[in-house]
Order: sequence, then structure tokens, then C-alpha cells
Amino acid sequence: MPEVKQSIAQHYHERTKYDPETIAEKNKQLDWSQQPEPFKEYKIGTSFNLKPYLKKKSQAEEEPGEGQRLSRLLLCGYGLTAKIQTMTGNHYLRAAPSAGGLYPAEVYLISRGTSLLPAGLYNYQAKTHSLVQFWDSRVWPALQEACFWHPALEACKLAMVVTAVFWRSAWRYEDRAYRRIFLDSGHLLGNIELAAAMNNYRPHLIGGFADEAIERMLYLDSEQEGAIALIALADLLDMEQNLPRWRTSLPSATQTDYPQVEDGELLKYLHNASKIDSDTSGTGGWKLVEPKGIIEDKYNFPFCTKVATVTPSIMWGKDLEILENTMLKRRSTRSYTGEPLTLKELLALLDFTYQPHHYINQGLDNHPDYFGMDLIETFIAVSGVDGLEEGCYYYAPLAQELRQIRFKNFRRELHYLCLGQNLGRDAGAVLFHTADLKKAVATYGDRAYRYLHMDAGHLGQRLNLAAIRLKLGVSGIGGFFDDRVNEVLGIPASEAVVYITTLGRPRSRN
Ligand SMILES: Cc1cc2nc3c(=O)[nH]c(=O)nc-3n(C[C@H](O)[C@H](O)[C@H](O)COP(=O)(O)O)c2cc1C
Repeated sequence: MPEVKQSIAQHYHERTKYDPETIAEKNKQLDWSQQPEPFKEYKIGTSFNLKPYLKKKSQAEEEPGEGQRLSRLLLCGYGLTAKIQTMTGNHYLRAAPSAGGLYPAEVYLISRGTSLLPAGLYNYQAKTHSLVQFWDSRVWPALQEACFWHPALEACKLAMVVTAVFWRSAWRYEDRAYRRIFLDSGHLLGNIELAAAMNNYRPHLIGGFADEAIERMLYLDSEQEGAIALIALADLLDMEQNLPRWRTSLPSATQTDYPQVEDGELLKYLHNASKIDSDTSGTGGWKLVEPKGIIEDKYNFPFCTKVATVTPSIMWGKDLEILENTMLKRRSTRSYTGEPLTLKELLALLDFTYQPHHYINQGLDNHPDYFGMDLIETFIAVSGVDGLEEGCYYYAPLAQELRQIRFKNFRRELHYLCLGQNLGRDAGAVLFHTADLKKAVATYGDRAYRYLHMDAGHLGQRLNLAAIRLKLGVSGIGGFFDDRVNEVLGIPASEAVVYITTLGRPRSRN
């Protein structure tokens, strides 16, 4: 039988794997003076200052207005939250983490015309916490057309678009940057989901859209930039009832007939190959099709040790005030002490990340949108959790249990697998998000690659926030020896490792 060629997304994944044999040649010297600026400038446009809306209103005043809600949504989503002085000037950190602190993502708002924002296109200027309106005509019908008439846009007046300037990340990470760009964006979407709930919006994710139509609409340079995700923002104070949930993802083509793509061209090639230019929603359109029959967790291992993960939920305070503060003070931990976590802490992290329906009473969305969550699996290497045997576990979110697949302390191996980063060695638990790429591509074509990385980043952000709330340390890891992870930890070979989150006790100076 002739061998079936892998699709371009699978090929990209293989080609961008880190491997101990080849990593040295990928580690080129960086010229920091050439690092791209992580901010966009608009020479013309009208500026809307969002800072005055951040002032806390007294209790006696009425409900927060649109200005206050949008200002807080954007600050908690992607605003500047810290400044570090470096040799070359100030380096700003944001509410969402970003691999290498390179911030390839940009955030735009499209208004249909609201009491605050006249119809038009706006770019979020994080540096000044303002919106610049760079286009003032009605673009909503064109947006609806580019999103193939997604029903949420019919009911909403505002949409957010996450785009990326690829070079900001590719400058350092080369072709593998595509993975990190979508992981970063997923973290940002996690913030938007939670900050929207705090501010009476419900974000409806749209991952299937005509890429080039959106690029043209936003005046993006299609050689350098791309549209990553759209979010229809339903204003819950302006709606009679909540909108239903719809489908979020549409498939692209699956390209198996591709030429030999040079190193340095792969990122762009995959991005273009996974674009959509016409409605691929099929006969069901945007209607959400819930899976039929009994749904079970993907892996069950007969006779393995099982640990129930049901636990009390994390409390986020009145009006989610603690959540807001956590989002504004979150930082990636730079070093762990090596001391163990407690089982209670680990279970609380899992509860917040994978059981959102436990948080409905605190005002959070019980079923936030993801793109292809049923394709993502979670494995956890436990090196130091009091009350839990060392080893590697599969986390079964439906059954709410940990299922042990290996018995061993993997500290030494984790150090190596995370490219020698001490975060891997000193963490109490290292969490792996994985996906069966072949199955994902069969469902969503090559665009699946985008969806998987955004969902993994989104889950990563929930883990980040829960860890900070519990005063634990946390950091994402985007660089790892892909195939070795599966071999060493016993994760099935069909599961591609998409993302790693390390969790541990932070050294006091992060
Ligand atoms: C996708 C992704 C991958 C990351 N990979 C690493 C990593 O391999 N090693 C590391 O020390 N930090 C990693 N980080 C953390 C970033 O370095 C950190 O987010 C960035 O410096 C900004 O700091 P902040 O998270 O404190 O805002 C990663 C973050 C993200 C979102």
C-alpha cells in the first residue's frame, strides 16, 4: 500500500520538534538590538483614553458603565501589568504571559456602534491603555460575511479580533514560533473569558473565518501578520437573555500535496495552508452538535491506581474581585524551591481548570467556549505532591480522577525534557497537554493545529491564575524534546505534546 503523506500541519509538527541531536544547531545567537518592538503605532486616528475609567467607583454609584467595563476587560486581558528596566530600555510585561516576553499578539475591537464607541475599527494600545480608532466606517456587515454569518455577530455590537505579528516571535523561535503564537493567544483568550464574565460580557469564540477578508478589513500586512481568533462580545446588560452556545471551529482543507518547504518558510506556509476562504460549516451551519451517547474519558487503564479529584472550589471573592487582582498581579515564576505541593492544592488547580461548571455560583461561565477541547488530553508528572505517589498520571476530567500510568520520580528526566530548565526539575508537578494530531486534522483539517494550541494556552491560563491565587508558582514551557516526553513518561505515542505547565513552590523572589 502506498504510504499516505502526512498533512502539512503534521509535517510542520515533525519538522519543528526539538530533538537532543539537532537542538544545538537551532540555538543561534540572538542580536537583541534587532528585537522587534511589541507595540503597533498608528500615525492617524482618534484616541480613546481608557485610563480614567479604571478609577474605582464608590458603592453608592450605579452599575459600571460601558467605558469602565471595556477598560477593565482590556486591562485584565492584555494590559501592561509590570515594567522591567533592561540594558536597552524598559521591557513591559502584560496580563497574559507570552513565550520569551515577545508579545506577538495584537488586540482589535470592531464596533457596530455603541454608546461609547462609534462604529469603526480600533486597535488596543496597551502602552497607553487606550483605543485608537483608525477607521470610522461601518464594517459590521463585512465582518459578518467574513465570519460566514456566525449567529453571535447578529446579536452583538462589539467584536474583538486577536491577530499576530509573526516576526515578533519568529525572530527568536523561527518556525516553531507558530506553536508559541497560538499558545500565547490561548492564554489571552483565557483572560478574556474570565475578564468578560467579571464585566458582564459573554465572549463567543469564532475560529472559522475568511482569513484574508479579516486581514484586509484590519489593514494587516498579510506578509507579516495574520488573524488568529475572533470573539463576538455579547453585552449581558444589553440582552434580554443569554445567547445560546454555537460551534466555534470550522475545518480548513487538509493539504497533503505540498512542495519541499525551506526552513524559515514553514510557519508562513502552514498559516496560509490552514486559511479558509469560504464557508465550510456544512449543512449544520454554526449549530452546536453535542456528542451523542455515553461520553467517556479517552484513556482508562485496567488495574491502575485511581485517585478521585473532587475537591472544594477556589473562592474568587465578592464580585470576582480576587480574580481581578490575581489577573493583574500574575507573573510566571522564575524559580522553584523544590518543596512539594499538597494534594489539596493540585486538586484545586485541576478543579478550576477543567470543571468550570463548579464556578457558576461565583458568576463565571459554566461552559466557556473552546475550539476543540474534546481533542485535548492531560497528563501530569508528579515529582513532589504530599499525599500523592510519584509518577505519571492521566487526568480524566469527566470521571474526575487521576489514573496512574508510571511509578517513578522523574525529576532528573523532567529537567532534561524541558531543555535543561530548572523549572522542570524543581516543580512539584509538570502538566502536559497533548492531542492526537491525526485525529484532529481529520476533524478540522490543517487548521486543527491552530485550535489545539489556543485551547492548550487557554487551559494554561486557568492553571496560571489558580496557581497564583493559591500562592503557588507556575510557568508555561514551550520548548521541550517532543518525542522523548512520550517515551520517558509513558504517554501514548499517538499523543503529540502541545504544551507544558510547571507548578511548584516559588522562591520568594520570582
Ligand atoms: C507559550 C509560552 C511558553 C513559555 N515558555 C517558557 C519557557 O520555556 N521557559 C520559561 O522560563 N518561561 C516560559 N514562559 C514564560 C514567559 O517567559 C513569560 O510569560 C514572559 O517572560 C512574561 O512574563 P510574565 O508571564 O511574568 O508576564 C512561557 C510562556 C508562554 C505563554
